[in-house]
Amino acid sequence: MRRERRRCKGFAAVALRAAPISEEAAIGTLIRGGTVVTATDVTHADVLMDGGVIAALGTALDASPHTTVDATGCYVFPGGIDPHTHLDMPFGGTVTADDFATGTVAAALGGTTSIVDFALHTKGDSLANALATWKRKAAGKAAIDYAFHLTIADGRDETINEIQTMIEQEGVNSFKVFMAYKHILQVDDETIFKVMQATKRFGGLVQVHAENGDVIEVTTKDALAEGHTEPKWHALTRPVELEGEATNRAIRLAEVAGAPLYVVHVSSAMAADMISDGRKRGLPIYGETCPQYLVCSEDDYDRPDFAGANYVMSPPLRPKWNQNVLLRKLKNFELQTFGSDHCSFNNCGQKELGKNDFSKIPNGAPTIEDRFAILWHYGYNAGVIGINHFVSLASTNAAKLFGLFPRKGTIAIGSDADVVIWDPAIERTISAGTHHMNVDNNIFEGLHVKGKARHVFSRGRTIVDDGKFVGETGAGAFVKSLPFFPVAL
Ligand code: URP
Ligand code: ZN
Ligand code: ZN
Repeated sequence: MRRERRRCKGFAAVALRAAPISEEAAIGTLIRGGTVVTATDVTHADVLMDGGVIAALGTALDASPHTTVDATGCYVFPGGIDPHTHLDMPFGGTVTADDFATGTVAAALGGTTSIVDFALHTKGDSLANALATWKRKAAGKAAIDYAFHLTIADGRDETINEIQTMIEQEGVNSFKVFMAYKHILQVDDETIFKVMQATKRFGGLVQVHAENGDVIEVTTKDALAEGHTEPKWHALTRPVELEGEATNRAIRLAEVAGAPLYVVHVSSAMAADMISDGRKRGLPIYGETCPQYLVCSEDDYDRPDFAGANYVMSPPLRPKWNQNVLLRKLKNFELQTFGSDHCSFNNCGQKELGKNDFSKIPNGAPTIEDRFAILWHYGYNAGVIGINHFVSLASTNAAKLFGLFPRKGTIAIGSDADVVIWDPAIERTISAGTHHMNVDNNIFEGLHVKGKARHVFSRGRTIVDDGKFVGETGAGAFVKSLPFFPVAL
């Protein structure tokens, strides 16, 4: 598969080519000499991948007739699970730069072997149709396995009644409601509450994009009327209180409905504190933060030459001090997952749609490739997050919440052989010039990280060999999520 892309300033074109499927699915692969790490254990063991699954774990396993891979000096992790991606998604008057081919190849190179992408429901349409549309986008393109969340665009009886079928028959266990993006994706509290009631009843999990969209509508119009058009006004019109208020409102609504809740892309200490408070009250609330909120800040909006637009995302980047609070919340088990919220747009031709009006800049940034490495570097390398906890945050917790565990998210006999051989000694500098995402900017440009995926396996097949993609676009499969079970995380 080959993908052409426009050449913009600072952007090196990369051609992706599919490689033939290897024979190893038939003969199996033995990983030797590595340190196997799961969410609970650290073991010096060999891992035999055979028939697409983990077939044996032990010492001095018989290598014949299998291919052997030496993992000496490396960690052997369950493949990363990214619970928050937007591939081939129409948004902000354009379509994301990465589709299921380019996005999942980049994910694989970064150590991620499964994604949970958002299938967008449109007002008046059925959930079944939304899911079918997104399955078509992924089929024949994805290089790694994928599941879906569904967004909910309206609270019609037909929509609410379909939730049961989605959970019980279609393998979707989570449903995202937007409290922002008024006139586009936002729904009212009545709809949110009805979705919570239905998911509680049938075994689903509600996700919220928590920002007060009604107030943002007013602050945005006011700013534009006063002649403010630059990217930084995206952040100035979305103050942190609007995230805090919406987070608290969603938690209180879930409390009344008796439903579990998952708050996506938590950007601030204020919103994270709301989640901590709810959890202290014993509520089944889960919070996700993202690499961009640990690494970038509101200062990035002041970058010259419209580069600030690359950082326009919602919720927006916050004052720098929030970064440490969020990292500490991950460390203290107050936030449970680390999603990329990958939603890539080229500066050239896409972000530029908002050159004269910040509210027209497509929201989102390219993060799928570097999510795993950033958590490793800022969490483990910095001595903040222990190695088992790293695996929980990068993989296992998402598998548990989104109905993929124990098929995904661990290294255990019978689990899918989705495995990363992680070399902690390799250093690299993140750059749009060398990344594999189909986009002309990288919000982590120049960041030096230590630790890299050396080999990656998807259901036992090598998809990354010595840092190079050797898999096949189209080899990834849709994986049905089991109904949600309220695990303590
Ligand atoms: O700015 C963002 N986060 N874009 C993706 C859509 C969403 O709200 O998750
Ligand atoms: Zn969102
Ligand atoms: Zn998102």
